Amino acid sequence: MAAQILVASNRGPVSYVPRDDGTLDARRGGGGLVSGLSAIGPDAGALWVCSALSEGDREAVRRGVSEPGVKMLDIDAAVHGDAYNGIANSVLWFVHHMLYQTPLEPVFDAEFRRQWTAYRLYNRAFAQALAEEAADGAAVVVQDYHLTLVPGMLRELRPDLRIGHFSHTPWAPSQYFRMLPDEIAEELLLGMLGADRLGFLTRRWMSAFMECCGTSLGVMGSWPKDSSPHIDHLSQVTGQARRTLLGVHGLGADAEFLRERAHRADVDERMAALREQIGDRKTIVRVDRTELSKNIVRGLLAYRALLAEHPEWRGEVVHLAFAYPSRQDLSVYRDYTAEVARLTDEINAEYGRDGWTPVVLHVEDDFARSLAAYRLADVALVNPIRDGMNLVAKEVPVVSDAGCALVLSREAGAHEELGEHAITVNPYDVSGTAAALHEALSMDPTERAERSKHLASAATALPPERWFLDQLTALREL
Ligand code: G6P
Repeated sequence: MAAQILVASNRGPVSYVPRDDGTLDARRGGGGLVSGLSAIGPDAGALWVCSALSEGDREAVRRGVSEPGVKMLDIDAAVHGDAYNGIANSVLWFVHHMLYQTPLEPVFDAEFRRQWTAYRLYNRAFAQALAEEAADGAAVVVQDYHLTLVPGMLRELRPDLRIGHFSHTPWAPSQYFRMLPDEIAEELLLGMLGADRLGFLTRRWMSAFMECCGTSLGVMGSWPKDSSPHIDHLSQVTGQARRTLLGVHGLGADAEFLRERAHRADVDERMAALREQIGDRKTIVRVDRTELSKNIVRGLLAYRALLAEHPEWRGEVVHLAFAYPSRQDLSVYRDYTAEVARLTDEINAEYGRDGWTPVVLHVEDDFARSLAAYRLADVALVNPIRDGMNLVAKEVPVVSDAGCALVLSREAGAHEELGEHAITVNPYDVSGTAAALHEALSMDPTERAERSKHLASAATALPPERWFLDQLTALREL
C-alpha cells in the first residue's frame, strides 16, 4: 500500500545484529524522530525510508527481513561510504559546525568531486525509493545534511508530493559556507529549495540558511510579519517561480518518557555503583558522543583549571564524563577519542589521590548509566563549539533528583531557549568555563533548584510528538 506520510533519514529506527544461530536480531533505536513518529500511530500509513548501515542490515535486506513501516535501502557500500564518511560527515558536518583547521583544510580536489558524485547517487537512491512508495499527494519529511539533494530530485520525479526537509544541525554562516566550491554550494541549496518547507531548530540556523541563499544563489528570503518566512526562487524543473517556506521547530525533551525510564531498576543499580565512586562529593556530569563539535577536550581543560585555581574543590568534586565513541571510521575522530582518554589520565595522575579519582570517564554507551548520572548531577556541563540543539542540556534538568545547574555554551541551539536560566560560556574560553563551573558548584541549593525547574519547563515546551506533528500539519496545510 502506498504511504501517506514518509520519513527519510540515513540512520533508521532499527538495526539488525546477526545471532550465533544465523538469525537476525532487530534492535530498535531511540531519539526524537522515533518518539515524534509514534505520535501519528501505527495505522497512519507511515513509512520510514533509511539506509542499511551494517552487515546485519544488508543481510536483512538480502533476506527480505523488515520491520513494519520501515524500508531499508541497500545502497552500494562504496557509494554509501563516500557519501556518508566522505561528504556528509567529513565535509557538510565540518562546514555547518565550523570544524576545519583552515590553514590546511578543506581541500576540494578531484577526490572530493568523485565523492560528491557518490553523494548524488546516494541521494538519488532515496528520491527514487520515496517516489515509488508515496501515495498521491503524500507528505514526505526528509532529514538532515545526508539528504540535502533529495527534495529537488524528488520534486522532479513526483511534483504532486508535499516535501519537507528538516536540519538537525546548525547552518553555517554564509562566509563559511562559501568555502564550498560554487557549483556544489548552488546544487546543495537548490536541492533543499526543491522542498515546499524547510525546518530548522533555531531562528539563528534558519537566518544563516537564508543568508547563504542570498550569497550563493542571489535569492533573498523575506520575513513577513504575520506569515511564515519564505524564499522565492526559480524552479529548476519548470523554470517557474517557486516559493519555499521556512520554519523553526525547537525539538524538546520527552519528559514523560525520561522520568519513567529514569526510575527503573537498572538505573537505580547504576546510581548505586556511581555513588560508590562519588561518595558525598559534588558531581559535574557530561554525556556526549565523542564528537569533535562537543568540545570535550576543552571541557576537561576547564575542569583541570578549576582544580588548579580553586584548590578548595580538590577531593570535593567528581567529574563524570561519559564520551561514547562515534564515527570511528574517521581517523580524526579516533585521534580525538584518544586525546580525551589521555587528558583524563593526565588530570587523574596530577590531582588524584587515594580514595578520590577526579575524572571518571566511561566510554561504553549505556543509556541507563547516563540517566543515573543525570539524576545525580549537581552540575551539567554542555559546552559544544556549535550544536544544532543539544538534547543533553534539556534532559539533565528534567531528570536530576535535586535540580542541577547548567553550564551551557552560547553556541548550542538549546541556548536560545535555556540561556536565561543557565550559566553561559564561550566554548573556546577555558578559563571562563572553569569560572562558570566554580559558580555552578557554589550555587545556593535553593537557587539551583529554582533555576533547574525553569530549565526543565523550557526544555519540555515542544516534546517530540508535537515537534513532529507541527511540521506535518504545516506541510499538509500548504
Ligand atoms: C547528529 C545528526 C544525526 C545523526 C547523529 C548521529 O545528531 O544530526 O543525523 O544521526 O548525529 O550520527 P551518526 O553519524 O552516528 O548517524
